Amino acid sequence: MDKIIIDGGKKLQGIVNISGFKNAAVAIIPATVLAGGKCIIENLPQISDVKTLGSILTNLGASVVEIDEKTMEVDTTKMNQCFADYEMAKELRASYYLLGAGLGRFKKARVIYPGGCSIGTRPIDQHIKGFEALGASVSIEHGLISVEAERLVGAEIYMDVVSVGATINIMLAATMAEGNTIIENAAKEPHIVDVANFLNCMGADIRGAGTDVIKIRGVEKLKGCNHMVIPDQIEAGTYMIAAAATGGDVIINNVIPKHLEAITAKLKEMGVEVVENGDSLRIISSKNLKNISIKTLVYPGFPTDLQQPMSSLLTIAKGTGMVTETIFEGRFKHVDELKRMGADIKVEGRVAVIQGVSNLMGAKVAASDLRAGAALLIAGLIAEGETEIENIHYIERGYDNVVEKLASLGASIKKIVG
Ligand code: EPZ
Repeated sequence: MDKIIIDGGKKLQGIVNISGFKNAAVAIIPATVLAGGKCIIENLPQISDVKTLGSILTNLGASVVEIDEKTMEVDTTKMNQCFADYEMAKELRASYYLLGAGLGRFKKARVIYPGGCSIGTRPIDQHIKGFEALGASVSIEHGLISVEAERLVGAEIYMDVVSVGATINIMLAATMAEGNTIIENAAKEPHIVDVANFLNCMGADIRGAGTDVIKIRGVEKLKGCNHMVIPDQIEAGTYMIAAAATGGDVIINNVIPKHLEAITAKLKEMGVEVVENGDSLRIISSKNLKNISIKTLVYPGFPTDLQQPMSSLLTIAKGTGMVTETIFEGRFKHVDELKRMGADIKVEGRVAVIQGVSNLMGAKVAASDLRAGAALLIAGLIAEGETEIENIHYIERGYDNVVEKLASLGASIKKIVG
């Protein structure tokens, strides 16, 4: 069992470069199925989810070549089906984008029911609603989701819940439908725009991505193209929080500050200095931070993916903080582990009340999901003494070279291969 060991209490100082956005990359790679040609995807993060998706596409008959550590060439010309109905596809939630892409290109697809972080029930009813509105029939049997359509016809689809995954999946399926599709109450996250830009580069006709109304005019055919993935605002936010939590002074390069407005505002509210300089942010922090309240919301609100890392920071801020998680009902699994390190947190339903303590103490802890793992990394950087984190495969699914990047900022951190 691989572990990460941190000897905490050191200020993070220096420069870190942010990688490409995991949640954009894991949608863009399946979207290449629609091209029926050669795509070159650049600025990919070096994470296991990207590698897994490359293997899945290879198994489906695509040619996948790693040009370099951040660039993948995917040629889906020779693909003639999209049936990812085997265990590997269960490893990540984003496998479900193969449904929208396979439906769009082949008018049918089959994918094993998606896995992903256990942060709540994570239903897919809005994905199904969208596919059925376009004329597809959907069945879920023996843990497999199958979608099929004689014809895909554009439709007006109102999302009952703002869903990133469903918005992207419906966009994928609608690119070559006959006629126009309108997605109302669409998610507005930056990676929705990134995926739409990639699809338009392939020849799709998508307008309004980034707003809550997305219009898609179906086209006959798409083609291969090249695309550079946007920077990962969740990785960037995690390093901003880590710098703040250790009283450090860190320059974070390769970010889009606009995507980080919510986390920047909350850190400033705590007394952290955030200096914007083009595509870089400088975080200058002290150990004397004020506790605050956060409430997770869809973009541009405070991102749910930074709720867990932020909770670690609030455990040592002065006074009482409150965290309200409105997106996922099961996203407090990191709290028990933080309490083992001396945090004072009480969870009632979707609210965690955090009383700031003078410091955390190192302990043996285990990650339960990707961002819970990030929360434990930050707690370990804060804590006096040694923290040992198990289940680090969760962390490696979504953070590119996290041990090396933190070590380069002065953290005493190492990975033990067990
Ligand atoms: C994506 O998950 C991200 N994952 C998540 O990041 C992120 O937390 C989430 O969006 C919200 O931003 C990927 O992009 C691979 P949703 P997704 O559909 O698409 C409900 C991380 O840490 N819902 O926007 O699954 C759902 O239960 C991961 O990087 C339905 O009710 O999220 C939730 O309450 C974790 N029916 C809310 O909508 C549906 O059909 C938002 O979910 C779909 C979703």
